[in-house]
Amino acid sequence: MSGAVIWFTGLSGAGKTTIVKALEPVLIEAGHKVQILDGDAVRETLSKGLGFSREDRDTNIRRIGFVANLLAKHGVVTLVSAISPYRDTRREVLDQADKSLEVFVDAPFETVSSRDVKGLYKKALAGEIQHFTGVSDPYEAPTHPELHLRTDLESLEQSVDRVLEKLASLGIRVPVSA
Ligand code: ADX
Repeated sequence: MSGAVIWFTGLSGAGKTTIVKALEPVLIEAGHKVQILDGDAVRETLSKGLGFSREDRDTNIRRIGFVANLLAKHGVVTLVSAISPYRDTRREVLDQADKSLEVFVDAPFETVSSRDVKGLYKKALAGEIQHFTGVSDPYEAPTHPELHLRTDLESLEQSVDRVLEKLASLGIRVPVSA
């Protein structure tokens, strides 16, 4: 079974983690080995101690990319969810994978900041957190993502279906209904 790196990039609160968590059981059901590499979780282990400067974010992304590419080589469908704000760094790691897909998980700033699932936008807007992506730190949107999801306009189910359709077009097996 062929592996791949499916890279979900977007602002905090855009829905990256929710989408990869919804995709995981569907892909397992279709017979794949699946691994999620989520920025929040990686930052507690492999990237523990890293901050949010450009240098530290790039280090985080390169580490995630390195592991993702190894897993994909061994046949694992690897779902990465990380803000990964810098276009060049995303490209660099995705170019190293034999099979990869960049998915832009997009919603307007007003939407993600009002969702504020973790309460971090409130703090960032009040100046209590520095260098917060989208508030006081840059986010470079993909210019040519293989897939552009608008989580403010489509349901979770629609987003998941669109990813599955894309995977099918890459030759990755998905459930027949997708
Ligand atoms: S990345 O920029 O290096 O790709 P990553 O996805 O690993 O970021 O981690 C982002 C998560 O860290 C956010 O979802 C949020 O919970 C937390 N976080 C804490 N401080 C910041 C910050 N300054 N900017 C963005 N996210 C932050």
